[in-house]
Amino acid sequence: MYQDREGRNVLIINIQGQHGMAAIDDPFAEIDRQLEGVKLGREADAVIVDFHAEATSEKNGMGHHLDGRVSLVVGTHTHIPTADDQILSGGTAYITDLGMCGDYDSVIGMEKSEPLRRFVTKLSEGRFNPAAGPATVCGVIVETDPASGLAVSVHPLRVGGRLREQTPADT
Ligand SMILES: [Fe+2]
Repeated sequence: MYQDREGRNVLIINIQGQHGMAAIDDPFAEIDRQLEGVKLGREADAVIVDFHAEATSEKNGMGHHLDGRVSLVVGTHTHIPTADDQILSGGTAYITDLGMCGDYDSVIGMEKSEPLRRFVTKLSEGRFNPAAGPATVCGVIVETDPASGLAVSVHPLRVGGRLREQTPADT
């Protein structure tokens, strides 16, 4: 739990998915354990869940699993932003993947030549190096209701680099 400058309690939880990831405990069971005794709008003014997972289906499912219990569920790990930012029916803001902060003239942030060599020839010649071109900052901006902690609005934020710019003013 983190307290902001105005004294509001913000709980930030990072969990990892199971599909296409290293073996790990069931994230659906674990998030329920983590949220035991944490009522949104009471113990926490906002709850932010970063679900680090490969599969869009698993991330989408987690959004609905937590809908109404947390302020925001964001997916991460794929490095590619998705266009499905929304407020779910129970009031939780959601996006399947935030995207990375990095150079999008790349293969998910890595300089293109070595990943392409491995895709095309199935052989590796060197290591992956981060792409060093102009970066795009990716995220979401969420406004929450001070009483309930649920989302009032969610907007993607994409600034700089190659991706089309998106700010709350654009949407
Ligand atoms: Fe990752």
